Amino acid sequence: MKSQKVTRGIILAGGKGTRFEPFTLYTSKHLLPINDKPIIFYPLSNFIKNGIKKILIISDKKYIENYKSLLGSGQQFGVSISYKVQKKPRGLPEALILGEKFVKNKPFALNLGDHILFGKDVDKILKKNFTKNNSNYIFTINHKNTKEYGVLEKDKKKNKFRIIEKPNKTKSKEIVVGIYIYDKDAIKIAKKLKPSSRKELEITDLNNMLIDQKKIKILKFDNKKNFWFDAGDSNKVLDISSFIKKYEKKSKIQIANLNEIALLKKLINKNKFLNEIRGKKGSYFEYLKKKYE
Ligand code: DAU
Repeated sequence: MKSQKVTRGIILAGGKGTRFEPFTLYTSKHLLPINDKPIIFYPLSNFIKNGIKKILIISDKKYIENYKSLLGSGQQFGVSISYKVQKKPRGLPEALILGEKFVKNKPFALNLGDHILFGKDVDKILKKNFTKNNSNYIFTINHKNTKEYGVLEKDKKKNKFRIIEKPNKTKSKEIVVGIYIYDKDAIKIAKKLKPSSRKELEITDLNNMLIDQKKIKILKFDNKKNFWFDAGDSNKVLDISSFIKKYEKKSKIQIANLNEIALLKKLINKNKFLNEIRGKKGSYFEYLKKKYE
């Protein structure tokens, strides 16, 4: 397969949000805070840092205006952001169907709006595979809670792989994180999927079909150097926030500060950056003012 650059990305930010009720009675869970920024800033940072400049955000109709108020056209971060409504939370593969026109027959990245991925290798690995892509990709990491995620099981002797969605029992610790790279073959498969017992199209079914067709590569992040959090549960917010706060203090750079990323990646110039942060308050902006004004 010819290698192509991945320049477009979809963020899936709809869903039922039941684990965040009562907040999701009035807003989208991805707009709620982890430390001092909205959850969606974290997956957006994985894209903006690593060369994805055209981004489609998919969410429920009742939340789209909230996303537009927060992110607008994306020009403040030197990228272009557009929006699409998902009428009902029919499952993750619907992102590929709803995003078909947006991706224009080219390989693209899909990122779930409620997970947080950062660390020593994350940018290096994402950038490498966004820059020169010649396959579909899933990314994994070892995690102690396999019951809540897609788990990659390997039969090394037979060179066989299979993803089991939320297994009750498994020997594997390798879970599928919510960032994927796909091409048009994956869209074709998404269109043929049938809803599972929980009445959703399953990304795991799609990925298992790509595994069967030998059309997908699996890249594993080392969990000693990289961190992955599922922020889609209100019980986890406090722990994840305090972990990130400590990490930022130690590393002296914020994770997912989109304004700073845009400046450092030269997606906007310093004047534009300063105009954007002028007069704004809150620790997200105070950090920028102290460092750059
Ligand atoms: O977090 C990684 C896991 O994400 C993977 O390990 C699993 O294989 C994958 O199936 C998925 O697991 P969940 O079932 O936990 O996904 P969840 O329902 O939390 O949805 C993930 C994100 O996608 C969340 O931000 C909400 C959004 N979403 C979900 C559905 C079902 C939509 O925007 N539309 C939808 O229809």
